[in-house]
Amino acid sequence: MGTRAVYPGSFDPLTNGHIDVIDRSTRLFECVIVSVLTNPQKEALFSTEERLEIMREILLPRFKNIEIDSFHGLLVDYARQKKAQTIVRGIRAVADYEYEFQMALMNRRLAPDIETVFMMPSENYSYLSSRLVKEISALGGFVSGLVPPLVEEQLIRKLRSK
Ligand code: PNS
Repeated sequence: MGTRAVYPGSFDPLTNGHIDVIDRSTRLFECVIVSVLTNPQKEALFSTEERLEIMREILLPRFKNIEIDSFHGLLVDYARQKKAQTIVRGIRAVADYEYEFQMALMNRRLAPDIETVFMMPSENYSYLSSRLVKEISALGGFVSGLVPPLVEEQLIRKLRSK
């Protein structure tokens, strides 16, 4: 039985929706490796190291069976390297389906032994995304309740220093 899972993403920044998915996954798998994609092509607000630091601070005290890591290259290669048999993805609304469906099937073609599992976050977070959180913060709106307080602080610090 596969009990190690990778939960990959950009996490720019971590939101309460991600935490909801992590919470659910840690109850299903022995170990969940939450891993930030290091993508030089995608412009990010927070550097990989900043994202990892935020995630370590928030997630490590709260969940016992997780690892925080980063990766580059193919996700399936990384999952194999971490001895994970499962990829976890959060799926919010129908709009996510097309992209997730493509990725899951492509990953299956590349690595038939690795399964993708979709988790539905609480409906409270069904409209939440890192992109909107960044946009709202940049325009002076409040994101409390959508991201952990530390992320809110870091967003304000980051956007003020711009
Ligand atoms: O949080 P995101 O940006 O939706 O996460 C996307 C992610 C990191 C899961 C995806 O871009 C990814 O897996 N990238 C690694 C490169 C890869 O394996 N590409 C082929 C996917 S079929």
